[in-house]
Amino acid sequence: MTEEQGIEYGDEGNLAKRVADLLRVDIATVNNDNNTSSKPLFSAKDFSVFDHLHSRGRAATQELSEYLSAHPGSELLDIGCGIGGPARFIAERFVCKVHGIDLTKDFCETAVLLNRLCGLDKRIQITHGDACDMPYDDNHFDTVWTQHTSMNIADKNAFYSEIKRVLKPGGTFLFHDIFSNDALQTDEERQIHLPVPWASRPEHNHLVPGEVIRDILKDLGFHREIWTDVTAETHLWFHNYNGANNGQNTLSKDLNPTLFIGRDFPERAKNLKKNLALNKISIIQGVFRKG
Ligand SMILES: C[S@@+](CC[C@H](N)C(=O)[O-])C[C@H]1O[C@@H](n2cnc3c(N)ncnc32)[C@H](O)[C@@H]1O
Repeated sequence: MTEEQGIEYGDEGNLAKRVADLLRVDIATVNNDNNTSSKPLFSAKDFSVFDHLHSRGRAATQELSEYLSAHPGSELLDIGCGIGGPARFIAERFVCKVHGIDLTKDFCETAVLLNRLCGLDKRIQITHGDACDMPYDDNHFDTVWTQHTSMNIADKNAFYSEIKRVLKPGGTFLFHDIFSNDALQTDEERQIHLPVPWASRPEHNHLVPGEVIRDILKDLGFHREIWTDVTAETHLWFHNYNGANNGQNTLSKDLNPTLFIGRDFPERAKNLKKNLALNKISIIQGVFRKG
């Protein structure tokens, strides 16, 4: 199990090499800076059957991006970027420069590989680092984006304060995240069935009610623009979901969430669906503006 600072994703190391092998490309050649072959081997969309590590996949990224306004020269930061699916989607659709930061080194290396394979490496900068202590200047980004990452982070104040610090005044913070259902009253009621895709043990699970997040953001001076509950559509989506790459393209079927999350992914996905059915968790899209 790959474990870094209280999170765990995947079963073994060397993920980028394994992904390259499954894509039938030579990782050394792809990562060689002198290799300036002109035509990308893939498009970002080719990878979308496996590279969006969140509920409702690429469709959810596309939906959140409807709230995004980016212009040439603007810079967007994706926090907890995973293997880069959302970052590539944004870089391909919008003209802005995209940065991604993630605590899982294997994911960062895989994101860099996939960016190169679809010719987006000049437009996307990946950094291995902690969301709670980011290596970026104050007031730097026009937009901060995050999907399904906050539930891995215990120190919510540090996380949202960092987002505020790196955003320009007037900048936009967009998220697609999992919270405990606001209607639950006690810690016991809020206990979820484990393992889930982001946590196998209680100490890795840091869900809090959405109202806690709204209060933190308000105290930090953010203005709320959108708070949309997409729990029902997420629950519906899970009814038809089996975690497989259904081979809608020519990629290896082994490029699927099990490779990135862990061999017990089917059990984790089943519990996520169960927690949704029991109204334990809410899936929220949010858009907030830094005052
Ligand atoms: C469920 S994955 C989502 C990945 C990506 N946002 C996506 O939707 O495809 C959660 C990600 O958050 C990252 N993460 C967890 N805690 C983090 C932290 N403190 N700093 C940066 N990344 C973190 C994990 O490494 C993982 O890649």
